[in-house]
Amino acid sequence: MRLLVTGGAGFIGANYVQQVLAAHPDDSIVTLDLLTYAGNLANLESVLDDPRHRFVRGDIADRAAVAAAIGDGVDAIVNFAAESHVDRSIADAGAFLATNVLGTQVLLDAARAHGVGRFLQVSTDEVYGSLGPSGAFSEETPLAPNSPYAASKAAADLLVRAAHHTHGLPAFVTRCSNNYGPYQFPEKLIPLFVTNALADQPLPLYGDGRQVRDWIHVEDHCRGIDLVLREGRVGEVYNLGGGNERENIEIAGCILETLGKPRSLIRHVTDRLGHDRRYAIDARKIERELGWKPRRDFARGLRDTIEWYRAHRAWWEAVRSGAYLDYYEGMYGQRLRGAAGAEEDRT
Ligand code: NAD
Ligand code: TYD
Repeated sequence: MRLLVTGGAGFIGANYVQQVLAAHPDDSIVTLDLLTYAGNLANLESVLDDPRHRFVRGDIADRAAVAAAIGDGVDAIVNFAAESHVDRSIADAGAFLATNVLGTQVLLDAARAHGVGRFLQVSTDEVYGSLGPSGAFSEETPLAPNSPYAASKAAADLLVRAAHHTHGLPAFVTRCSNNYGPYQFPEKLIPLFVTNALADQPLPLYGDGRQVRDWIHVEDHCRGIDLVLREGRVGEVYNLGGGNERENIEIAGCILETLGKPRSLIRHVTDRLGHDRRYAIDARKIERELGWKPRRDFARGLRDTIEWYRAHRAWWEAVRSGAYLDYYEGMYGQRLRGAAGAEEDRT
């Protein structure tokens, strides 16, 4: 299969590109990525010299760039490209609409114009909104996105649905829970807390820290995406989840314990606006239809991930410089100074 993978220099996309090239010797991949703050060619280092892989820098919302990346034709498009961080979408939703919504439509149009045989949209459980203490999202759960990020992803899912319904585009949507693993940008919970702990810096825990996420190792997610692409039923949505519900405060404790750092590094800071309380996934459809199941044990997977960050200090130190420092100060500076004050008040 010839694939166009968009957003392949980001966390999940880079894991996917590496996994596909390893698992399918006859496949070739063009990676199209704008290399935003979250994109990093170092994530693709192991495949940059592979003759089956070609990297193209470009914007999925740029029709000419997409047409050039498709070139003589591809059999499938897998769209990972997105603005992906909830906190950034709360600060400014503009780029989320440009890439996640308009960019997806440009890709759908290009897929149709070039007769691309399969289109897979990589989506998220966040399109379903937030859960109470029980229950799980199924593919039938109504869409109720709460953050601008989630709303932009829901819009994209619906555009994919419309392209299939109206134009017969052979499309799939996958909706996955929170990923963890190597190459994740240190703005998301696990890599932020691991790298902060490694640098002996405080771990900014939002609110009471009792929010729940369902964690899945990125390898399991990528395997599920690939299975849907090759064997899924056209026009269908498939949920993927790890079956590992954990409170954020528990994750913070695990990371500190694994690294032998004190719990006093945890700082309760002002909560995220509109913070979703709990996500959980019912993945029975993909299990039943395609025989997919997550394989990675969470405790072991988290330890391996922490070890990866410990062993790749140069990777994250390079990432946590320049514009990242401005982002960090803007997102956490005031909150952490406020938390430090509160700690002092308590003592
Ligand atoms: P990421 O932020 O690490 O990577 C996104 C990549 O997209 C980056 O390489 C970036 O340069 C690229 N990109 C951004 N705008 C672009 C544009 N206009 N044109 C081309 N490339 C562009 O994100 P991620 O965590 O790897 O997520 C990948 C996809 O999976 C996203 O669509 C996200 O919504 C979805 N998803 C993520 C998670 C998660 O836990 N991280 C869970 C479920 C679904
Ligand atoms: P995140 O990794 O941003 O993923 P998402 O919001 O898409 O689920 O956050 C995961 C959880 O961790 C979420 O409940 C918010 C919380 N969180 C913190 O407590 N502190 C932080 O600094 C960050 C980034 C997240």
